[in-house]
Amino acid sequence: MKAGKVYRSFTSKSGEEVTLRAAKWEDLQAMIEFANSLVDERTPDPDFGVILDRRQDLESESQWLANLLAGIESDRELSVVAEVRGKLVGNSEVRRGSVNDEFHHGKLGISVSKGYREQGIGLEMMKTLVEESRKAGLKTIELEVFATNPRAVHVYEKVGFRQVGRIPKKIFRNNRFIDIILMAMVL
Ligand SMILES: CC(C)(COP(=O)(O)OP(=O)(O)OC[C@H]1O[C@@H](n2cnc3c(N)ncnc32)[C@H](O)[C@@H]1OP(=O)(O)O)[C@@H](O)C(=O)NCCC(=O)NCCS
Repeated sequence: MKAGKVYRSFTSKSGEEVTLRAAKWEDLQAMIEFANSLVDERTPDPDFGVILDRRQDLESESQWLANLLAGIESDRELSVVAEVRGKLVGNSEVRRGSVNDEFHHGKLGISVSKGYREQGIGLEMMKTLVEESRKAGLKTIELEVFATNPRAVHVYEKVGFRQVGRIPKKIFRNNRFIDIILMAMVL
């Protein structure tokens, strides 16, 4: 895979043209804003299903993006971002296992910006991640999702993930435990 590679475009439920492509270095500023908007959502919504807990700055995000791009170039990571009218509104990736025995296995993460959810963007990003993972020779993918996040579980099941387990109380936030559902898919 190459940084910035365009996979395809589609029209969202609200009529917006959405482009799905791999991340690129020019996304740096947009990625900082994207990450920080997710971190900010944790305050009003204690069940918000994102574990990133620190606002990012130029230094931390540069490091993260440089790692992602290196992973993309070396086929260790698959990246799918969603863009609407030049704005980055979704980010997702699948990371291969780091040891030989797990090289066929990926871990998936995804988020769509507030204001762009429930327009079919997450589902299309997931479909593309699954398709690209298959093309890259991956055989299995896993993900973790908050048990309090039925929307995400619904989207994952729609592309073929199945619930394979539960980790009680994995998350402790605002003095309250939240269970994690483990989901997996054989490609
Ligand atoms: C989870 C997420 C990636 C899904 O992306 P999205 O673009 O909002 O999803 P889509 O619009 O493609 O699909 C949403 C689906 O969930 C359904 N849905 C909405 N609320 C639901 C609920 N409470 N229970 C079950 N399904 C629900 C919608 O009806 C739609 O399904 P349909 O197409 O069959 O009608 C996105 O909402 C998000 O980033 N949320 C915040 C961060 C997060 O939770 N990330 C995931 C961490 S594991």
